[in-house]
Amino acid sequence: IRIFVPVDSGALSVGANDVAQAIVAEAVARGIDIELVRNGSRGLYWLEPLVEVDAHAGRLAYGPVTVEDVPALFDAGFVDGGMHRLGHGLTEHIPFLAGQERLTFQRVGITRPLSLDDYLAHGGFAGLTTAIALDGAAIVKQVTDSGLRGRGGAAFPTGIKWNTVLNAAGSQKYVVCNADEGDSGTFSDRMLMEGDPFCLIEGMAIAGLAVGATQGYIYLRSEYPHAFKTLKAAIELARAARWLGADVAGSGRAFELEVRLGAGAYICGEETAMLESLEGKRGIVRFKPPLPAIQGLFGKPTVINNVMSFAAVPLILAKGAAFYRDYGMGRSHGTLPFQLAGNLRHPGLVEKAFGITLRELLLDYGGGSASGRPIRAVQVGGPLGAFVPESQFDVPLDYETYAAMGAMIGHGGIVAFDDTADMAKLARYAMEFCATESCGKCTPCRIGSTRGVEVIDRIIAGEAREANLDLLDSLCDTLLHGSLCALGGMAPYPVKSALKHFPEDFGVEPVTAE
Ligand code: NAI
Ligand code: SF4
Repeated sequence: IRIFVPVDSGALSVGANDVAQAIVAEAVARGIDIELVRNGSRGLYWLEPLVEVDAHAGRLAYGPVTVEDVPALFDAGFVDGGMHRLGHGLTEHIPFLAGQERLTFQRVGITRPLSLDDYLAHGGFAGLTTAIALDGAAIVKQVTDSGLRGRGGAAFPTGIKWNTVLNAAGSQKYVVCNADEGDSGTFSDRMLMEGDPFCLIEGMAIAGLAVGATQGYIYLRSEYPHAFKTLKAAIELARAARWLGADVAGSGRAFELEVRLGAGAYICGEETAMLESLEGKRGIVRFKPPLPAIQGLFGKPTVINNVMSFAAVPLILAKGAAFYRDYGMGRSHGTLPFQLAGNLRHPGLVEKAFGITLRELLLDYGGGSASGRPIRAVQVGGPLGAFVPESQFDVPLDYETYAAMGAMIGHGGIVAFDDTADMAKLARYAMEFCATESCGKCTPCRIGSTRGVEVIDRIIAGEAREANLDLLDSLCDTLLHGSLCALGGMAPYPVKSALKHFPEDFGVEPVTAE
């Protein structure tokens, strides 16, 4: 009997290793023959540690399981699918999972992260195998036709970026994966790297073949030690099986891959600061142009994409551009792995096509607030994303529609707050975050963010409110238009949205319609 206990760090943080040990010990004591399988997480984080049992009809879910629950689970005969209060029936039928469109996350939680056999048995390396038969331009065309846009947050068309690198002159080119996942409430990159690392490796190898790069780097945040270990082990395995190395899968083309650890600076998630850090320098933003696609790592043409962008590519090559393009709405094609966090009953990963609404994500998937109180605001797109009020919960999530209402989807982080949240404090926090994380290269952000905190403090204290509101408005304008990168450039989003939708929290009279 196969029993699955995740090795994902979300599950480990709530005791998955202890639960796994307890299950093995209990099985031995009872003379029951089990095979313990360590899978990735299904992304139903409120149920972790989520233990699954291989039953005839599929896998049965039990969770959240503690060490103390283990004897009772055995008493209930859970190894034979017995009923228990922690049982949820077939995992695939749990509504949170059943309603999803898992393309990028198709294997995560199902396979063993470091099993090449599992990876191959679930469609792994089909995309790379297709790519090997194509020349660079044909691979790039598939990615362009799929409509895939940068999943790190900026949503720039991936195919156009790759095409720039393909056409850039230079015998040495690089592929760099931005795995410095620093947005609040986000974890999709980590979940994939820990749960299906070969998928990222495959996506990067395809990028290497597409643009003619022979070396790749994964720039991983230091706060992800489990992902680091998993990626390093996966790279070794892939190399040994010749999916990486001097002759990728017998293609006669080379692609090598290394993981590099960051040191905890949020700004190193900005692509040019990341390149500085990768080159061994202090993480400070570079001027653009030149674009990294033309002069990137060590001055060479470089493809830089987020984990989610690379991880979408194998499926696009395997199933064809049209398959992926058919998902979504407007110019937002494909799916986005949304990450539900904050004050929600069911936090976790929801991969859905663009076009779903926040209300569906929050209620149908998130189960409403954990506190049971009304959800008042949702911050979408990281610590510098806008606060979305309840009146906008029915707006479909696609890049253009969100931009039109002054918000952004970013990397798909969704953080919910109930009606006890003080929006003025949250706005102040965002400005303070910008001040703390500023790299200091440009004046609006370096000085403006610190002054911004002071001005918000004065508004909250009721000091010369009108004058300070005007000052904050003009400061936000300067940050928006005068900052060198998105850190300073986005700091106005949470501040202005909080002021616009929740003025009463700043002691300002709401504007009422005539
Ligand atoms: P950007 O709009 O300047 O650039 C987007 C990407 O397209 C870059 O890689 C850029 O080099 C590339 N590009 C632009 N024009 C090109 C061309 N003609 N040819 C080839 N490549 C071209 O945005 P930026 O500053 O890179 O990213 C900002 C975004 O990052 C924000 O919108 C935010 O959502 C996101 N972000 C994500 C975080 C995370 O943890 N995932 C953290 C913080 C911000
Ligand atoms: Fe550095 Fe801030 Fe300017 Fe970005 S906006 S370059 S983080 S000082």
